[in-house]
Amino acid sequence: MLVLGIETSCDETAAALVGDAYAPLANIISSQAEHALFGGVVPELASRAHLRTAVPVVRAALAAAGVGLAQVDGIAVTRGPGLVGSLIVGLSLAKALALAAGKPLIGVHHLEGHIFSNLIEHTLAPPFLTLLVSGGHTELLRVAELGRYERLGRTRDDAAGEAFDKVAKLLGLLPESGSVMGGRIIAELAATGNPRAIGFPRALERDQSLDFSFSGLKTAVLNYVRPLSAEQRQAQLPDIAASFQEAVVDALVGKTLRAMERTGIATVALAGGVAANRRLRARLEEAVGTRGGQLFYPSPVLCTDNAAMIAAAGLFHLSQGRSSGLDLDAAPRLSLSPTHG
Ligand SMILES: Nc1ncnc2c1ncn2[C@@H]1O[C@H](COP(=O)(O)OP(=O)(O)OP(=O)(O)O)[C@@H](O)[C@H]1O
Ligand SMILES: [Mg+2]
Repeated sequence: MLVLGIETSCDETAAALVGDAYAPLANIISSQAEHALFGGVVPELASRAHLRTAVPVVRAALAAAGVGLAQVDGIAVTRGPGLVGSLIVGLSLAKALALAAGKPLIGVHHLEGHIFSNLIEHTLAPPFLTLLVSGGHTELLRVAELGRYERLGRTRDDAAGEAFDKVAKLLGLLPESGSVMGGRIIAELAATGNPRAIGFPRALERDQSLDFSFSGLKTAVLNYVRPLSAEQRQAQLPDIAASFQEAVVDALVGKTLRAMERTGIATVALAGGVAANRRLRARLEEAVGTRGGQLFYPSPVLCTDNAAMIAAAGLFHLSQGRSSGLDLDAAPRLSLSPTHG
């Protein structure tokens, strides 16, 4: 089976092809640079950029895989959650291609895509836990079987990636042009800092739930830097970044271990943009390993938004005989239902 995936939920225009066993044949991602000046994604600019790049990106993916549309078995597309204008561009293109080529259309939940990112490179059989840490979500999920998800915990305010982005912004670290991925910049700085230099708060540490909270941490960083002079702040940046990152990692590791205890599931998959964080990978790998479990995580390019994960989830549903009608709508606030698909 061969599936073309299209992803345009936020500021990445992506197209990919995956074959049997979710093998990636092509994975093209075009990141939008036009938002850098604004310190965040501007929805109107995002839709316009998707309109410009979606067709060339799909063409590039087909060319890289050396296949034509006639050879694909289905076209998978992100239907939500995400920015409505951005989602509509991908959906319209996917529908047009499905209609023109006479192929089934498969609407995919973006978060289910992130869950499937681990299946592209690893042989991973349910049940497993997924710690999904992205720019818009932070959730602990029990994957009883593919297509069946139970949310065990979630953030009560900011997502982990959002916290990285906001802290990068308040520390004045975002470049005036180029990428706006605050997490990457904080992680690089943190590598040269002391993670125990500043004792930032670990919210909900003793709370019995499997929930997270990161907005208080962001405020604590703001309160810490406010009285510092420009020179003091500059000198302390690596320690601030490392201590902030450690607080996020502690919370994520702590609740994941608790979820392992509660469910008796020892296999853990890390997914979403923050899964690219080396400190998180290393700390979680060690913690899960010492409890006799195993941690899986995707390559960095499959952690952040990509279409290979959308194609993989689409291929799974198509293989189960499920597809969508051409009246499929964008669903900006779609939640991941327990039995998805
Ligand atoms: N090395 C890193 N360390 C920490 N965070 C990172 C790293 N690399 C990327 N991120 C963060 O990952 C996030 C982007 O991930 P992703 O593309 O999965 O999110 P999204 O698609 O915007 O959100 P969602 O999937 O919830 O809709 C950003 O918040 C970014 O700062
Ligand atoms: Mg995402």
